[in-house]
Amino acid sequence: MTDSVKLNAAGKDLDLKVLSGSVGPDVIDIRKLYAQTGMFTYDPGFTSTASCDSAITYIDGDEGVLLHRGYPIGQLAEKSSFMEVCHLLLNGELPTKDELDKFSYTISRHTMLHEQLATFYRGFRRDAHPMAIMCGVVGALSAFYQDSADITDPQQRMIASHRLIAKMPTIAAMAYKYSIGQPFMSPKNNLSYTGNFLQMTFGVPAEEYVVNPVVEKAMDRIFILHADHEQNASTSTVRLAGSSGANPFACIAAGIACLWGPAHGGANEAALNMLREIGTVDRIPEYIARAKDKNDPFRLMGFGHRVYKNYDPRATVMQQTVREVLGELGVTDPVFDVAIALEEMALSDPYFIEKKLFPNVDFYSGVILSAIGFPTTMFTALFALARTVGWVAQWNEMISDPEQKIGRPRQLYTGPTQRDFVPLADRK
Ligand code: ACO
Repeated sequence: MTDSVKLNAAGKDLDLKVLSGSVGPDVIDIRKLYAQTGMFTYDPGFTSTASCDSAITYIDGDEGVLLHRGYPIGQLAEKSSFMEVCHLLLNGELPTKDELDKFSYTISRHTMLHEQLATFYRGFRRDAHPMAIMCGVVGALSAFYQDSADITDPQQRMIASHRLIAKMPTIAAMAYKYSIGQPFMSPKNNLSYTGNFLQMTFGVPAEEYVVNPVVEKAMDRIFILHADHEQNASTSTVRLAGSSGANPFACIAAGIACLWGPAHGGANEAALNMLREIGTVDRIPEYIARAKDKNDPFRLMGFGHRVYKNYDPRATVMQQTVREVLGELGVTDPVFDVAIALEEMALSDPYFIEKKLFPNVDFYSGVILSAIGFPTTMFTALFALARTVGWVAQWNEMISDPEQKIGRPRQLYTGPTQRDFVPLADRK
């Protein structure tokens, strides 16, 4: 390990400090680079740039490791509940039994939405994408919960965080109910966080909804697998929005907007649509050939990851969960056979081996969610629901950092240099 690296720039010798985390690559501290040399670094897409320090989540992409506060994702997915993981991410430690009861109780007391918020839904077209509704309704929470908007008060920050975690299932379930023309279902606090979400989504007032424990467990696991993923695009968006002092509801709405894209949270929807389009195993080679063709923009959705270059540990858990859910529900979905065969063929293809492209968490999640009964348009909304805890944990961490500054990247300008204004009549 070195303490500093030498850089010769603009005719000057600089000693740049090297900082070490608890695990993972060291980073070169370039904060004084501009002041000392008049130069910026250039790193579009942040492929070599650490934007902050964080004690929440650690990923080793080469080894396929994902740790939340030190705990491996596989152990959390197998042995804990989403509420425990929420407590862990937000507060730094797994809860004791008493702490978990208290935390779950607190969350359950915030699940209802202000009645006037329900009227927002009626303003959306019936065929609105749930993510469009989520962006709008979550942003609108700022107007309803102004009592938790003082971001300098840790207590208010925690109340806003609890509110967001608690209300997301209600908001997502209402977006679904609205799209199919069924009445909104009120939360039921005697159910688990995940059971309540299933009840609000699939229950109807005319019948008592009975939560299937296998589906509840699978859903809870999907929430755990999506809870946080360090400084990905949507989390960085939340941090950047929050760095200006914006209120937490607006920041999370910004994160939802970023997550919507098909290269990020929209990938599970795109992956299932792709598997359905492929339809049968014999058509897979045609799609693999298209994915490899430089002149075709088609990519295998659910494959590849910016950070994981070996395998995505979440995909392994997801693959096991698919089998459990399909078995329990007695669903025989040909899409699952296509998924298994596609994974096999792609993983033995030199193009995918060479580029280190493996199935990511989204490759199988769509198959499970579809078997449970969610339409593809809801997939990203479920991701947003689960990721909310990661977003608020990262936002809280940033705001409580005394050295926190507004995020302001620089650029390499390639436009015209200064020129004089030409009046309209003289322009050619
Ligand atoms: N299918 C075919 N080729 C691919 C794929 C894919 N899914 N992913 C990457 N490649 C190829 C690229 O064409 C590129 O080839 P080249 O070097 O010949 O130009 C090379 O692999 C590297 O790709 P990049 O786009 O530079 O890699 P990056 O790390 O920027 O992208 C990303 C990662 C966006 C996830 C990409 O793999 C992708 O688009 N995958 C499909 C979408 C997807 O599944 N997203 C979900 C991500 S997980 C999540 O958000 C929870």
